Amino acid sequence: MKKVFVKTKNVKKLITMMNNLKNRDEGIPGMGLVYGEPGLGKTYAITWWALQNDAILIRSANLMSARWLLEEIVEELGEIPYNKFSDIFNQVVAQLIKTPRIIIVDETDYLTIDSRAVETLRDIHDKTDVPIVLVGMGTANKRLQRNKHLYDRLSEIVKFEPFEKSDIDSIISQLAEVEFTDCAKKLIYTRTNRFRQLVKVINRAELLAKANGINSIDEITLKEVLKNDEIDTEPIESKSENS
Ligand SMILES: Nc1ncnc2c1ncn2[C@@H]1O[C@H](COP(=O)(O)OP(=O)(O)O)[C@@H](O)[C@H]1O
Ligand SMILES: [Mg+2]
Repeated sequence: MKKVFVKTKNVKKLITMMNNLKNRDEGIPGMGLVYGEPGLGKTYAITWWALQNDAILIRSANLMSARWLLEEIVEELGEIPYNKFSDIFNQVVAQLIKTPRIIIVDETDYLTIDSRAVETLRDIHDKTDVPIVLVGMGTANKRLQRNKHLYDRLSEIVKFEPFEKSDIDSIISQLAEVEFTDCAKKLIYTRTNRFRQLVKVINRAELLAKANGINSIDEITLKEVLKNDEIDTEPIESKSENS
């Protein structure tokens, strides 16, 4: 499989959102939310964006405390954290005022919505005006609505949607090192609309093609791939979104 970053519709929405946050008018709050079901490419996309834009990317962990979060931010800023909580907070604020950098926090579902960690992110935003972007699962939007002070500051919200057929076509043509017939692509679309599964299918199909000396995957071969490798693909009609 080729190592290519695919600019899907979701990725394009994310880029627009990040540009809006960066270029927003004075006085407009600058927090953002990216949410969607697992496997749609959120982490991959924000990691790519963070690298291109020298943003600070933090991955939250279960029951991450405000102090732990601040320490991670300080380390990303290239500093050694002070001891007292208030000192670390002021350290982060001073650094970000001197050199503003966007903060992105992935897996925010680990932070309970009313936790001090979330409040601390809000406080950092209020004191420095740097954009802060939370990335979470399908339920993140609803959960955050419960915290009105935070929700009011979300000026940009992007939902990562399952792929449309055109996304599947462009992902396959950019990533796969083997051809897929139109029927095979249609079958993929009826079975999977997430990146993680799609990458698995492409990878298996490539291995099978190599082992059998074929350079095009048709519907019958693809069915073998889906069957033999127990790829967790259910017809998308039966998928419902509960978030
Ligand atoms: N834009 C992309 N271009 C190429 N591959 C991608 C892209 N987005 C996701 N992937 C592939 O899909 C996998 C799952 O994506 P990930 O970002 O972990 O999903 P999520 O964070 O939404 O659960 C990644 O590990 C990567 O292999
Ligand atoms: Mg993720």
